[in-house]
Amino acid sequence: MAKIDYRKDIQGYEQLRGEIEILNKYGTDYESHRGSVTRVIDRLHPTRLQLKVSEIKKETGTTKTIRFISSGRRLPPFQAGQYINLFVKIGDVRTSRPYSLSSAPHQTGFYDITVRKVESGFVSSYLLDELQVGDELESTAPAGYFYHNPIFHGKDLVFLAGGSGITPLMSMIREVTDRGLNLNIHLIYGSRNYEDIIYYDEIEERAARHSQFRVTHVISEPPSDYTGCCGFISADLLRDVLGDVSDKTFYLCGPDAMYRFCRQELSNLCIPKKKIRNEMFGPPADITSDQYWPTQINPRTTFKVTVHNGKTFPAVAGETLMASLERAGLSVPSSCRSGECSLCRTKLLSGTVFHPRSVKLRKSDIKYGYIHPCVAYPLEDLLIII
Ligand SMILES: Cc1cc2nc3c(=O)[nH]c(=O)nc-3n(C[C@H](O)[C@H](O)[C@H](O)COP(=O)(O)OP(=O)(O)OC[C@H]3O[C@@H](n4cnc5c(N)ncnc54)[C@H](O)[C@@H]3O)c2cc1C
Ligand code: FES
Repeated sequence: MAKIDYRKDIQGYEQLRGEIEILNKYGTDYESHRGSVTRVIDRLHPTRLQLKVSEIKKETGTTKTIRFISSGRRLPPFQAGQYINLFVKIGDVRTSRPYSLSSAPHQTGFYDITVRKVESGFVSSYLLDELQVGDELESTAPAGYFYHNPIFHGKDLVFLAGGSGITPLMSMIREVTDRGLNLNIHLIYGSRNYEDIIYYDEIEERAARHSQFRVTHVISEPPSDYTGCCGFISADLLRDVLGDVSDKTFYLCGPDAMYRFCRQELSNLCIPKKKIRNEMFGPPADITSDQYWPTQINPRTTFKVTVHNGKTFPAVAGETLMASLERAGLSVPSSCRSGECSLCRTKLLSGTVFHPRSVKLRKSDIKYGYIHPCVAYPLEDLLIII
């Protein structure tokens, strides 16, 4: 039987074949492609986005979801789990904070972030109390490595969330359940009490509708008649809830104290490091609680920071150098503000700073004296180049 060539039925096939023949014969005119690669890179990875607040939704007593649409070009695509760094000007201070995108990446017309108010927090208070629908802000493009990689992370995922740490995981849950992806997710979500659980109704509804998604709430300050899981997310609790923990990949996101506690519990369960993915939500609230903090340094001590060929400003030991720079009206580029992206690398000419051990300083940074001001705390007077 003669073979049928179905390719001719494909729309545009003949035209494409003709073009390929011409290119094979006469070569490519690269002049006609000039700038096209840059244009694609620019569209997918713009350095700055112009965002407009289109909706603000109250989630809990301390949390709101802010929806942004673009007031400039199309919003670039992102991976569920990534964050944007949002720039704000509050009084005389221009600063920024990273926020995970909580909407799903297939909802391409908007970005959602969900912000929990930190007590006397500088930016979270502004976003929750001052920001209005219609306001315009600038941000970086989505970034970060806290997303599912199908090649390395397998199909059985356990999400350990604490408080607002649910946000990047919610983006993944929305994507997986909406698109029916072939992944199993068990969310173990620690909250202080029931009123504090963000997205409670939606999580329950998705768990009821999708067999691939399960949820266990863990309440640390439960009412006396509470019968569910309570306390912290411990190794015993994980064993009880999950049974066999081998071959699962753990995604951990929450406040610093929860992060440190859960890392230890996962290590007690002999979960290999490569099976643990984590996202730090910025520097610890109290750096002196870091076990390696030099106890002889009073966190209220003020040191003098001098910028080479520039101005001098005060910096308190217990606050990040980046915060002190911004108070002084100076800035260095930043994205993650948690020591991960290296964007804020700054040359230290003299003096010493404290970096928490979780910060991933490159060997070359250490060798050539570069610091990450977003997670560097001055321990002496400093001389820096920015
Ligand atoms: C990757 C990533 C994703 C995140 N995602 C979320 C999320 O989805 N939801 C969420 O709620 N949070 C998220 N966070 C945390 C968020 O970025 C902020 O840290 C949080 O909102 C607290 O900010 P704040 O300014 O209110 O708190 P603050 O404690 O006031 O700010 C933290 C820093 O700002 C400094 N500071 C305080 N006052 C001033 C001032 N006047 N001038 C200059 N600096 C000052 C402080 O010294 C401190 O170092 C995320 C963090 C990271 C790293
Ligand atoms: S801003 Fe990312 S390492 Fe400092």
